[in-house]
Amino acid sequence: MTRPQPGIFAEGSTAHYALEYTVGGDGAALAAALRQARADAGGTNMVLAFSGSAWSSLGGSAPAGLRGFDKLGSAPGPTAPATQRDLLVWLHGDTISDVYDAALAAGRAMAPVGTPDLDLRGFTYHDSRDLIGFVDGTANPKGDARMEAALIPDGNGGAFAMSQQWVHDLDSFNALPVAEQEGVVGRTKPDSIELEGDAMPADSHVSRTDVKIDGVAQKIWRRSFPYGDTSTKGLYFLSFACDLARFDVQLQRMYGVSGDGLKDRITEFSAAITGSYWYAPSEDDLAAALGG
Ligand code: HEM
Repeated sequence: MTRPQPGIFAEGSTAHYALEYTVGGDGAALAAALRQARADAGGTNMVLAFSGSAWSSLGGSAPAGLRGFDKLGSAPGPTAPATQRDLLVWLHGDTISDVYDAALAAGRAMAPVGTPDLDLRGFTYHDSRDLIGFVDGTANPKGDARMEAALIPDGNGGAFAMSQQWVHDLDSFNALPVAEQEGVVGRTKPDSIELEGDAMPADSHVSRTDVKIDGVAQKIWRRSFPYGDTSTKGLYFLSFACDLARFDVQLQRMYGVSGDGLKDRITEFSAAITGSYWYAPSEDDLAAALGG
């Protein structure tokens, strides 16, 4: 197995940055920009992920099944827009100063290739809570199960990835009694304990995303982070998976298009404004593709 990009699994960061780019077809210019960005990242974790066409422009071969993000849902129900982009640069580390320096350097290096369509600074909020106040990541796989969930089982060390920028309507969520907020999520608020039996609504976020197919739990490796200011508050949902279909099935169940007539109550209080699918190649394939 070639080595996955280490930043996919590095944990404990308190500062995050996401840049998404649409780039042209000039693979040589993109490779030069990314070589520079990686050299300038210092000790900050940098994960790069690509659309199929961007990875091909670098001479890489995309894994079977990679495709662009498809729009989900239809009004008046919740909808997920497709804003497929070509390159995701995810930076994370211990201090906002270092992460911001790396983001500035990446922006400078990428300037000849393009300007970012998404330019988002995020952070770890309290004990890894999202801005709706719930711990995010409790049911994430642990130890080696992280790799099993995230890495495509072809021995190449790559991963599918998905990102969505979500915007919360915090006022309306916070107006709910805490017991109802817990029903929306499917876990208790103070201590993140999963609701059980009749207490777990079929349309809670956990009920819609905790999926088994033929007895196999459709685990993904989530690395989302909150972002915001005093007016806009949200979550940059970022996740890695061994199979793109795992995202599809969770999204279809969230957006009420899986055929059982249910949708995820979290979509009543949050809306996605972007959506992309990605391929995060192994560290070795990336180094070979960027050359230099
Ligand atoms: C506003 C957007 C979202 C928020 C605030 C949010 C928040 C949460 C929270 C609080 C939990 C429970 C704690 C935990 O296990 O981490 C959770 C679980 C989970 N979420 Fe989300 N999430 C969002 C979007 C998504 C999306 C878009 C997906 C996938 C398409 C997703 C997949 C999952 C999965 C797989 C779990 C674990 C379910 C289980 O096995 O128990 N989430 N999320």
